[in-house]
Amino acid sequence: MKATAVAHPNIALVKYWGKSDVETNLPAVGSISITLDTLTTTTMVDFSAGSERDELILDGAPASEERSRRVRSCLDLIRRRRPGLPPVFVESENSFPTAAGLASSASGFAALVTAVNAVLDPPLGIDDLAEISRRCSGSSPRSLYGGFVELALHGEGTRVRPVLDRSEWPLEIVIAVTSRTAKKVGSSDGMELTRKTSPFYESWVSGSPYDLALARGAIASRDFEALAAVSEASCLRMHAVAMAAQPGLVYWTGTTVECLHRVRALREEGAPVFFTIDAGPQLKAICDPAASELVAATLAEVPGVIEIVRCGLGDGARVVED
Ligand code: DP6
Repeated sequence: MKATAVAHPNIALVKYWGKSDVETNLPAVGSISITLDTLTTTTMVDFSAGSERDELILDGAPASEERSRRVRSCLDLIRRRRPGLPPVFVESENSFPTAAGLASSASGFAALVTAVNAVLDPPLGIDDLAEISRRCSGSSPRSLYGGFVELALHGEGTRVRPVLDRSEWPLEIVIAVTSRTAKKVGSSDGMELTRKTSPFYESWVSGSPYDLALARGAIASRDFEALAAVSEASCLRMHAVAMAAQPGLVYWTGTTVECLHRVRALREEGAPVFFTIDAGPQLKAICDPAASELVAATLAEVPGVIEIVRCGLGDGARVVED
């Protein structure tokens, strides 16, 4: 009745931004990501703790009402498939700042569904887990797998599949942390505002299949330049469509922009590196391992960079010993 799972955040190279159905949290576009190592969410679930209702402790303190509500609705989705599951005590720890653009909801829900699944008899299949975690956070089913992962629109729903093992193209990621403040507008609200008010929303959605095809091809042939081009384009278009919302969403700090220019300058000088930025101020530089020292040293010198976090590609969510 007790299990612990770990999961890592993932970073989208081809971005998910926008929902075609808010009720079921159905993304309007597919996405392709890489799963990180180093950064970890560890989640313990205990169904034998005698809790009267589902309880969530996050990073050592009772979670906010909003987070607890999201976790309860995730547990309720599991209960729809496995009626009779008792209330659960959940304790979750992130090894990185929550809600600051490092995708804590992705690793959080991936770890949660994986831990709960370990106590189910019989367990749910991975496609069911992916569907449940996607309903809680659209990026989270990608963290169920390691390496390069695609979430594709599929029929009335989505399908998540690994596209390349991490060992087959071991890229590295250098994260320039430029702020530790939680973002003012979360991804879900930002996406809805964008859908309702951005004049560029339709073209963002209709352009996505082309970006996905380019990225799939680049990954299959390990073509770094091609992956750099499509990833930077997808990132900048996602931010462009969001900036054009009313009121416009600007997730970047001045430091984020300066880091972006440094990454482009490094690439012009021959270093295999490109950037991506999610709904937050941190810049993520993806590079060949041979360039990672240079990339980390260059970004560390940018005024306003608080911390440099270095990662490789990681594994999918998994159960661990308590
Ligand atoms: C910018 O998965 O956090 O990181 O489904 O509303 O929970 P919800 O959104 P979420 O959005 C992630 C947005 C992104 C891009 C991406 O990861 O694809």
